[in-house]
Amino acid sequence: METNLKVAVIGSGTMGSGIAQVAATAGCHVHLYDTNHAALEKSENNLETTLSRLVEKEKIDETEKDRIINNISYTTTFAELSHSDLVIEAIVENLDIKRKLFSELENYVAPETILASNTSSLSIASIAASCQKPERVIGIHFFNPAPLMQLVEVIPAIQTSEEVLEKTVQTITDWKKVVAIAKDTPGFIVNRVARPFYSEALRIYEEGKADFASIDWSMKTIGGFRMGPFELMDFIGNDVNYTVTETVFTAFYFDPRYKPSFTQKRLSEACYFGRKSGRGFYNYNSELPKPTE
Ligand code: NAI
Repeated sequence: METNLKVAVIGSGTMGSGIAQVAATAGCHVHLYDTNHAALEKSENNLETTLSRLVEKEKIDETEKDRIINNISYTTTFAELSHSDLVIEAIVENLDIKRKLFSELENYVAPETILASNTSSLSIASIAASCQKPERVIGIHFFNPAPLMQLVEVIPAIQTSEEVLEKTVQTITDWKKVVAIAKDTPGFIVNRVARPFYSEALRIYEEGKADFASIDWSMKTIGGFRMGPFELMDFIGNDVNYTVTETVFTAFYFDPRYKPSFTQKRLSEACYFGRKSGRGFYNYNSELPKPTE
């Protein structure tokens, strides 16, 4: 296992926090960066809670908990990322904002630093093209929750060097994850296959054929899924999930198979993101989750 790799994770939301935990558990020194102080504070508190639960369940001991916590430092200062061997970006799913971040990053890090994006759906080639050394850019797509989900998609862009691909696969394998190398196409593998799962469920709901709690119940009880589509959208974040659908729809030249839903758009606009905001399709602030309408 690579124990002394210096890793920077940019964006301390749902994914960035989980990725930082994975890297820190594997023994890497992690700088978790965000522009938002509150997001960093929330991430630090959540890690403490998560690890304490693991101690209670006797999955790890106090020494291991302290080791993981001490491997992560939280920062709002970009310059502190300058010594990183690997940077993983997990900020908002917006191509222009990601491209700007990557081009700025190059002014701070060493020429051999690998720059990775955790994007769910955007073009890695386009992100790489914002850099002077596009051959060091690659997609590393973790799934939510990153510490629990085994699969990681690794996505080389057409510009990515063989060496960067090999090093990335080795690192992610060292982090005890299973790597699937995916082509740089919209949604890669899993997010493309998953689109109809969400969109058909939304269509059934919008057509008034069933309410979302019944759809979730059916998919779990009869379909054998661990989570129903609406629970899963709330878990992922309706803002993130909607944006990914919109990106895939646009990238496939408006193929109606991937058409986004107004229902989810309105939830996102109302900041009903799901679990992370306390309300989505379901209301997480009340004792019993119940439909919001
Ligand atoms: P999130 O909304 O939970 O967190 C994003 C974080 O990035 C926030 O803390 C925000 O303050 C920060 N941020 C935004 N712009 C920034 C900037 N310019 N510089 C530094 N920090 C900035 O989002 P989430 O869900 O963690 O998603 C992040 C990325 O991971 C997206 O590209 C998303 O598509 C991808 N992803 C999301 C999954 C999910 O289930 N939520 C699963 C796999 C990938």
